[in-house]
Amino acid sequence: MKYKSIVITGASTGLGRQLALEFAKTGGTLHLIARSKDALNQLVSEIENQGGKAFAYPIDITQTDEFVALLKSIDEKDPVDLAIANAGWAGKLSYPSETNIDVAKTIADLNFKAAIITLETLAKGMVERKRGHLVGVSSVAGFRGLPGSAIYSASKAGFTTYLEALRFSTKPRRVYVTDIRPGFVYTPLTAKNNHPMPFIISVQYAGHLMFNAIIQRKRRFTFPWQMAIVGAIMRNLPYFVWDWVGEQFRERAVSGIKGKPTSPKT
Ligand SMILES: NC(=O)c1ccc[n+]([C@@H]2O[C@H](COP(=O)([O-])OP(=O)(O)OC[C@H]3O[C@@H](n4cnc5c(N)ncnc54)[C@H](OP(=O)(O)O)[C@@H]3O)[C@@H](O)[C@H]2O)c1
Repeated sequence: MKYKSIVITGASTGLGRQLALEFAKTGGTLHLIARSKDALNQLVSEIENQGGKAFAYPIDITQTDEFVALLKSIDEKDPVDLAIANAGWAGKLSYPSETNIDVAKTIADLNFKAAIITLETLAKGMVERKRGHLVGVSSVAGFRGLPGSAIYSASKAGFTTYLEALRFSTKPRRVYVTDIRPGFVYTPLTAKNNHPMPFIISVQYAGHLMFNAIIQRKRRFTFPWQMAIVGAIMRNLPYFVWDWVGEQFRERAVSGIKGKPTSPKT
């Protein structure tokens, strides 16, 4: 399928930005959403300079009414056939803390609620037209409850489960669903981490892998391959083994204290 109208949330930096640059080469019109106006405008100029077509929509997507209205107006003017719910945040929890409620609310509103609203709003037109592709950017962190990342892991596990179930409803209407579960990628999201990030890859390589998975309409895509193996093992460990593994990161789970950072590989 060649996509004509593409919506990407979280397009101002990291994976969303890289996906926008990848899809710009295919000739479709890009509708780019994030809060940072300047970063979005810069990306639009970059895409236009390369002969592509893109529009910037600076908005906080946790403001549900405004966000839904925006998505509907985009879909009305330029029927969307690829929606990528990518915006996300990975705030950490620590104990005791005064900020855990705020962190939890932001992650739940952004990674789960806004992500689902993105796809549900745009699914309507796609199933009516019997054409479209819904993509969610989840995470390997959703495979098990990770120490120190209770809300983040839960938001991604919930999103992955949503995507799996969604496919049963939309596939009969020829609307495809892809669940992308990245391992570590060097982006502004991970730049602040001070713990080891095994098998970390560059955003350029990640964008390329994600682009290929989407155009191949993969149902699920976990990357890099080393993390796909680790994730599959993690996922299938019995509870008592996972409980033991988590205990090894007790300090991280309580205070967020981490080890040394690793540098990105290209
Ligand atoms: N990097 C990794 O290692 C990794 C691993 C697994 C999964 N992921 C997932 O991949 C996705 C992209 O992450 P990334 O690494 O590319 O992070 P990133 O560079 O921090 O990008 C996050 C994007 O979300 C946007 N965003 C944040 N809050 C928003 C809001 N309230 N309204 C609208 N847009 C908002 C940000 O733009 P503004 O700040 O301009 O709004 C930015 O464009 C996330 O869902 C993340 O959980 C990343």
